This record gives sequence, C-alpha cells and structure tokens, in this order.
Amino acid sequence: MTLMLWDETMSVGVPELDSQHQTLIALINDAYEAIRKHDEHLMTTLLDQMREYAAMHFHFEEEYMRQTGYPDLVSHRELHDGFNDKVEEFQQQLHSKTNFSQVFVFLSRWLTAHIMKEDMRYTRYMAQKAAGGEPA
Ligand SMILES: [Fe+2]
Repeated sequence: MTLMLWDETMSVGVPELDSQHQTLIALINDAYEAIRKHDEHLMTTLLDQMREYAAMHFHFEEEYMRQTGYPDLVSHRELHDGFNDKVEEFQQQLHSKTNFSQVFVFLSRWLTAHIMKEDMRYTRYMAQKAAGGEPA
C-alpha cells in the first residue's frame, strides 16, 4: 500500500526540488511498507535514510529561498527544523512500543501539507517576481 503520491498539483515549479520531494515521498512509502511487513531492520535503515535525505533536501530548499530573496525563509526553516526534531524523537523511541504506522501517517501528512501550503508560498513569490509584480 502506498501511503502518499506525488502529482502535478504538488509541483513547486523547480525540477530539482520536485525531484527531491518525490524521493522523500518514495522513502516514506518504502519505510511505511517495511513497517507493515514488520521488517524492523529495513525500517530502521529507511528511517535513517529518510532523515538524512530530508535534512539534505531542507538545506537545499533553504538555500534556494535564500538565493531568491524569499522573505519568509526564517519561519520556513523553523518548520523544517520541527520536522527534523520529530523524526529524531521517533528514532529515539525506536525500541519502545511506538506505533510506527501512525508515525509515518503523521510524516506523510506533514509533508503533503507542507508542500501544498508552505512550499507553494515561495512558488507564488517566485512567480510574482518573474512576472515583474510586487511579491506579496
Ligand atoms: Fe519546505
């Protein structure tokens, strides 16, 4: 079962960022599948990979926002940090009785909402800037 899917409505208009979002979604789906199969070893590996990849992606995205002069970089970065903290918290609970299906449902919902709401704000900002208008 696939937990989440990327589609065109999630495109932020930057191919590299779209591709990173797709990879992150694929990692979340794979980890969720590992949980469903009770494959603890694979799940641990994928959670590590996902955490590392998310950190790289957030850094890349923040750099893009910085280079383009996006004004809400600081608050956006705080959201990314919140995600990282959450993943770290889950990793620390790895051997407790955490319900990992719920963890990944949470992460997938967070990411979908983040892309559709927060990432789209810099997409709109860039579109307005490109059109020569006053960015909101
Ligand atoms: Fe973001």
